[in-house]
Amino acid sequence: MSFLWDDSYKTGLEEIDNQHMELLDVAAQLCSSPKTNNNKTVKEALDFLCKYVVNHFYIEESYQKKYNYPGYEEHKAMHSRFTDKLNNLKHSIGNNPSQEDLEKLSSIIVNWFKEHILEVDKKMGIYILNNTNDEL
Ligand SMILES: [Fe+2]
Repeated sequence: MSFLWDDSYKTGLEEIDNQHMELLDVAAQLCSSPKTNNNKTVKEALDFLCKYVVNHFYIEESYQKKYNYPGYEEHKAMHSRFTDKLNNLKHSIGNNPSQEDLEKLSSIIVNWFKEHILEVDKKMGIYILNNTNDEL
């Protein structure tokens, strides 16, 4: 998977896609030079991500509710498991992230991108765009 944004990553919902770009930037930053990334980078990325997911998932779920997306409950449960995973990592890392923690965080984000954004979120986007005339 490339860390450069590609149109094939789009869900078609502009607001959501812009937020997904932000997430990809964080992943790119963490993975691009793992040897030079220090504790601060990992801590900052985790702090950012823990806040980011609250806002981002709220917005995605709001779209799903507004457009009566049938996969809403299941999708929401995935968001909640991912949020827990990040928060658990944040607590277990504490103030002293190791190289392994950095690798763990990078792989959590990359897997989320591949398994969730490129699969589940894209399905959501297709459904919503097929079921509205709104400009999204
Ligand atoms: Fe999602």
